[in-house]
Amino acid sequence: MSDALSMNSVQLVINNRKILNNLSMSVPHGSAVTIMGPNGAGKTTLLRVALGLVKPTAGDLHIFGNRGFDKENRKLLGYIPQNLGLVGELSVFSNVMIGAIKRMPRWRSIAGVYTKDLVTEAYSLMYDLKVSHLMNTKVKKLSGGEKQRVAIARTLIQKPSIILADEMTASLDFKAAVAVMDIFAEIKEKMGITLLMTHHNPEIARMYSDNVLIMMNGRIEKNIQSKDLTKEAVEDLYET
Ligand SMILES: Nc1ncnc2c1ncn2[C@@H]1O[C@H](COP(=O)(O)OP(=O)(O)OP(=O)(O)O)[C@@H](O)[C@H]1O
Ligand SMILES: [Mg+2]
Repeated sequence: MSDALSMNSVQLVINNRKILNNLSMSVPHGSAVTIMGPNGAGKTTLLRVALGLVKPTAGDLHIFGNRGFDKENRKLLGYIPQNLGLVGELSVFSNVMIGAIKRMPRWRSIAGVYTKDLVTEAYSLMYDLKVSHLMNTKVKKLSGGEKQRVAIARTLIQKPSIILADEMTASLDFKAAVAVMDIFAEIKEKMGITLLMTHHNPEIARMYSDNVLIMMNGRIEKNIQSKDLTKEAVEDLYET
């Protein structure tokens, strides 16, 4: 299987500190990969480097075999940040449309005048993510799980090939996390999207990833098939 995303010997030094330290990793096309590791290991930073938001001090990055961050490469990536970045005062529909800004002329996004095709697409995504009944509700009134699903819809409308999702279920109880991840996993398969996520919950990581990358001190220490992610492996990870 070819790689959707790969990094080779990536270094990020800030104030003489190696935040990413000779980091190499790859995410096969169509797979779901989770990065696990203690607070401060560098998981969010790794995602931000992958997205081109932070420029590494050294090292290589490839997206579908193409090096670096030209405009075309960037378009292939979608991001669900840890804090979601939704606008609480706006409706579910408006938040989803924010994801489509780059797909329309500026005047349309400012005026809120969208093409029929785009609106149909947004409805369909909101329906799949079970938030269409909330489309006119302000996001600040939603539950954590509902907000997560709006954030997924907002990312999917960009039509990314790879989604990077940072602790997307961290604020949810297990049942709500499973409900969100079940829908996300189904859509991922349907759309053929590659997923790179971070999770702290090993059960969620096991259920929804093919592989789990163990990250410590700015580098990937291990690549474990999720079925081999034992309790012992997780305990080791958080004790050291
Ligand atoms: N812009 C920055 N300037 C200085 N230090 C930074 C910067 N960005 C990240 N760091 C440091 O890099 C380290 C890794 O941070 P990062 O947020 O990537 O960790 P993480 O693995 O995502 O942790 P968590 O599980 O708490 O989310 C931390 O020690 C953090 O303080
Ligand atoms: Mg983080």
